[in-house]
Amino acid sequence: MFLVIFICSIAGFVQAQNTEANKSVLITGANRGLGLELCKQFIKDGYTVYGTARKPSEAVELKATGSIVLQLDVTSEESIEALAESLKGKPLDILINNAGYFGPNKIGTKMDNIHNLTRKEIEMCFAVNTMGPIFVTQALLPNLEMGDTKKIINMSTRSSIISNARGGAWGYRVSKAGLNMVTSTLHGELYKKGFIVVSVAPGHNKTDMGTERGKLMPEESMPLLKKVIEELTPEQSSGFWYYNGKELPW
Ligand SMILES: NC(=O)c1ccc[n+]([C@@H]2O[C@H](COP(=O)([O-])OP(=O)(O)OC[C@H]3O[C@@H](n4cnc5c(N)ncnc54)[C@H](OP(=O)(O)O)[C@@H]3O)[C@@H](O)[C@H]2O)c1
Repeated sequence: MFLVIFICSIAGFVQAQNTEANKSVLITGANRGLGLELCKQFIKDGYTVYGTARKPSEAVELKATGSIVLQLDVTSEESIEALAESLKGKPLDILINNAGYFGPNKIGTKMDNIHNLTRKEIEMCFAVNTMGPIFVTQALLPNLEMGDTKKIINMSTRSSIISNARGGAWGYRVSKAGLNMVTSTLHGELYKKGFIVVSVAPGHNKTDMGTERGKLMPEESMPLLKKVIEELTPEQSSGFWYYNGKELPW
């Protein structure tokens, strides 16, 4: 009897230890910035990590993390189709739609206002920040359906909060507010199938996009964001979560 209990305990322990080793995550825009740091954090915990890059041959740092590097331009139908084809039949637990585009002007500069706004800026922001996550998610739904945790994480920003808008960053703000609606709409369709869909905001980080003015280093914010993602419950689906776990308004 004792022997049976002992063997069962060991089996349970081994299973618990393997839980994360068996999990997989795909992170878009993973060759630099926050995506790269997220890859490092998930690899550290034994996940199978798929990191995407527009130019895999140049993604030296990403390769060095031990991630499986896949080509993806989120604005290209062919690229999204090829990604889905290369992952056919493979379960995916977490999709992080991280790839993002800010626009041609730094925030608050002379050109960053309604007078100088161009159609091209708005179109590119929508193509990367709003339509990208829609069609990447659509293509990877069969993989997510096979996964255990079925989490879709859309990397948004506090700049998308309607009451926060103080002018400027037009394409970025409007397209990320659109991304938040993507989160809500996906939740509406997928929640009953066991999916958890959220928007998250990473805080202002020192990256190419966040610039030197960023208050956080990705090495400090991304472990916290990873924890938020791992601890998400079904009740939190359709919400907007800050990297430190606080809920944000839309
Ligand atoms: N940094 C911050 O303070 C901050 C704050 C709030 C929200 N965010 C959000 O967090 C995410 C990551 O930001 P970050 O600071 O790491 O930005 P980043 O340093 O500018 O990196 C952006 C990443 O997105 C990729 N990307 C851009 N266009 C793409 C496309 N068409 N297809 C595929 N990948 C594309 C880039 O690839 P290439 O190298 O090929 O260009 C790069 O890997 C973004 O969604 C951003 O909006 C960041």
